[in-house]
Amino acid sequence: MDLNENLVRLLPKAELHLHIEGTLEPELLFELAGKHGIVLEYESVEALRAAYQFSDLQDFLDIYYQGASVLRDEDDFYRLTSAYLRRARQDGVVHVEIFFDPQTHTGRGVAFSTVIEGISRALDEAERAWGMSYRLILCFLRHLSAAEAMATLEQALPYRDRIFAVGLDSSEQGHPPGKFTAVFDRARAEGLLTVAHAGEEGPPEYIRQALDELHVSRVDHGVRCEEDADLCRRLAQAQIPLTVCPLSNIKLGVFSRMEDHNLKRLMEAGLLVTLNSDDPAYFGGYVAENYLAAQRALGLSTDDICQLARNSIQASFMVSSRKRHWSGRIDAIAAEVSTSGLERLPAFAQAD
Ligand code: ADE
Ligand code: ZN
Repeated sequence: MDLNENLVRLLPKAELHLHIEGTLEPELLFELAGKHGIVLEYESVEALRAAYQFSDLQDFLDIYYQGASVLRDEDDFYRLTSAYLRRARQDGVVHVEIFFDPQTHTGRGVAFSTVIEGISRALDEAERAWGMSYRLILCFLRHLSAAEAMATLEQALPYRDRIFAVGLDSSEQGHPPGKFTAVFDRARAEGLLTVAHAGEEGPPEYIRQALDELHVSRVDHGVRCEEDADLCRRLAQAQIPLTVCPLSNIKLGVFSRMEDHNLKRLMEAGLLVTLNSDDPAYFGGYVAENYLAAQRALGLSTDDICQLARNSIQASFMVSSRKRHWSGRIDAIAAEVSTSGLERLPAFAQAD
């Protein structure tokens, strides 16, 4: 492990933009297909992985929703979530905020309770075993109607205490945040926080709508804010976090090369940028790999890396005592690096 990788793994981090369905690795996908007698279009794990070449968001979503169709019973959701949490822990993630898309499953006859019970069991286990904290964020599929989103919110209300926030994902173009104002109003009336994907492929105007109509606490992706200087100033001034996903942006053609990614410029403009993996099974890397790919291509300094970890804790929905605890750990690591260099840091080691 090189010195930057050791630093990245050692820093306590929160992952704030992670679709649990996007952590379905081809190996588990094939295993679950076999379990449920589902015949796949691909002959092997390798053939499936080789098909993960996407021209844009919609091209990816078509494969992604197909993949999710092997998730059928509670144990499938439990295994999916457990595998992700184990992997995240190896990257030094101490807190996760997980998106789940109930409509992807209820639309094909899987009960809402099956989805949330399976995911929650894995999260509770990780919290007990490793002290990993979490929040669950229910996302509405924006290519479906506002009425369907409202019905999904109604279905979720019996599980209100397990859900911290609602979000908005799926095909962005042509589905502005304003389409869901009434649903998000209702969610906020229930005490839920709000986030939304905006400015991934969609224009800066969608980010404005997410702020003004959905009252989001964070913007997911948000990288197209750079096209609107007033909006950038507003995001920086209000310190509205962006949950940026570098490998995702390259795989989906938001930027052609990592060297062109704007995350460093956004940091320099004073925005609260966090790094995340989005759908790591499809985009070729979990959170540490996102930090390292960005660091290599953009020449991020060790200070930048420490700042991104600090931002992830600050931008999270964890309780403030935990924020203080983890920020203190990051400050101690940053101080050690600046006085003694990366060589003197302990080697990152995970128990299991
Ligand atoms: N669903 C899963 N990943 C997504 C992304 N990057 N954008 C929108 N919807 C998604
Ligand atoms: Zn996403």
